[in-house]
Amino acid sequence: MKIEILETYEELSKRAAELILNYVNTNPSLNLALPTGGTPLATYSELRKLFSQGKADFSKANIFQIDEYVGLPPEHPQSYVHYLTKEIISPLKIPKENITFYNALTDNPQEETSDYEQTLKSIGYPDLMGLGIGHNSHIAFNEPGTSFTSRTHIVDLAEKTIEANSRFFNNKDEVPKQAFTTGLATIMDSKNILLLASGEGKAEAVAKSFQGEVSEEHPASILQKHPSTTILLDKEAASKLKL
Ligand code: F6R
Repeated sequence: MKIEILETYEELSKRAAELILNYVNTNPSLNLALPTGGTPLATYSELRKLFSQGKADFSKANIFQIDEYVGLPPEHPQSYVHYLTKEIISPLKIPKENITFYNALTDNPQEETSDYEQTLKSIGYPDLMGLGIGHNSHIAFNEPGTSFTSRTHIVDLAEKTIEANSRFFNNKDEVPKQAFTTGLATIMDSKNILLLASGEGKAEAVAKSFQGEVSEEHPASILQKHPSTTILLDKEAASKLKL
């Protein structure tokens, strides 16, 4: 596990965009799993800038989402399909046939999880998995206590996560209570992982996950065992690490 500490969120975002682009340039038809949330917004903005300068070609990349709210229609402004389409897929003109999304409106969410895992397996586990980290050390929607052997599954969202995500909805009650998520074992099957964390609010989760013991209470701590993980932090997110 490699930890890089950048001075500011802007620098972290530029570095993240640079690393993602390196992977795409090395293997244009790579399988790329992308996170949503606040942290990667400036990374996506940087990638859009590079695209408009003719420096980024994602046209052959296969894009996967890592999580999605159960039951939220794709056109809902807070669905992760909507987010990824708006932030990166449309602006970078990534062809529709290269995208694998969860069917959040399925009648059979359980079956959707096994279908999604099967699709990942047959197309190939991600060459690059992008991740953020929650205040409680969740990655994707794998909340504390999730088994390290978990595959794609449905989760009941932790109260803390619902609260954190309510900033994107009109109120807390509108936040869906369940989500599809790539499992921890599925994440570990990715060839390379890039996790971004910014701000003091993430400092404790970062320190516990990456300098504490590997434990299901801190889902992100599993990444200590991954052979090719890069953690990008800004100064604030790194503030509780022992350096
Ligand atoms: C989002 C996701 C989540 C977020 C995490 C951090 O697709 O998988 O694990 O990465 O909740 O969210 P932000 O970046 O909003 O702090």
